[in-house]
Amino acid sequence: MDYRALMEAAIQARENSYSPYSDYRVGAALLSDTGKVFRGCNVENAAFSPGICAERTAFVKAVSEGEHRFQAIAIVGGAGAGDLELTAPCGLCRQVMMEFCDPKAFEIVLGTSTEDYQVFTLEELLPLGFGPKNLRKQDVL
Ligand code: THU
Repeated sequence: MDYRALMEAAIQARENSYSPYSDYRVGAALLSDTGKVFRGCNVENAAFSPGICAERTAFVKAVSEGEHRFQAIAIVGGAGAGDLELTAPCGLCRQVMMEFCDPKAFEIVLGTSTEDYQVFTLEELLPLGFGPKNLRKQDVL
């Protein structure tokens, strides 16, 4: 797994963050099982609730392009023009990951540079998660 390249893609994705309300800029890079990288940024809205996180932007892009299984996601965030700070995915994003990823195998890369990152499994960040397997006895995707 080329974590460094995935971190670099997340850092680039953050450049497109549309976050005039929070001024918290987030980028994500999602690696599919087929080896494609989908980038996402947070996209906020004047009505607030339509805003979407960088991670879910990346998932929605990928799934709408026909990708259903994923290996890893890198996430970077930080306020405005300041330094990157460790940014962990929100609960909604963890649940979306649960829909499309194996909790024991999917890797979540959190860091502040291409040299400084930590890798977690989805299971570590979402213990006892509820997913498709709870509703159906076989994989649906
Ligand atoms: N945000 C993300 O995009 N991903 C995260 O992991 C945490 C939060 C966004 C949502 C909102 O646009 C801004 O950061 C502040 O919460």
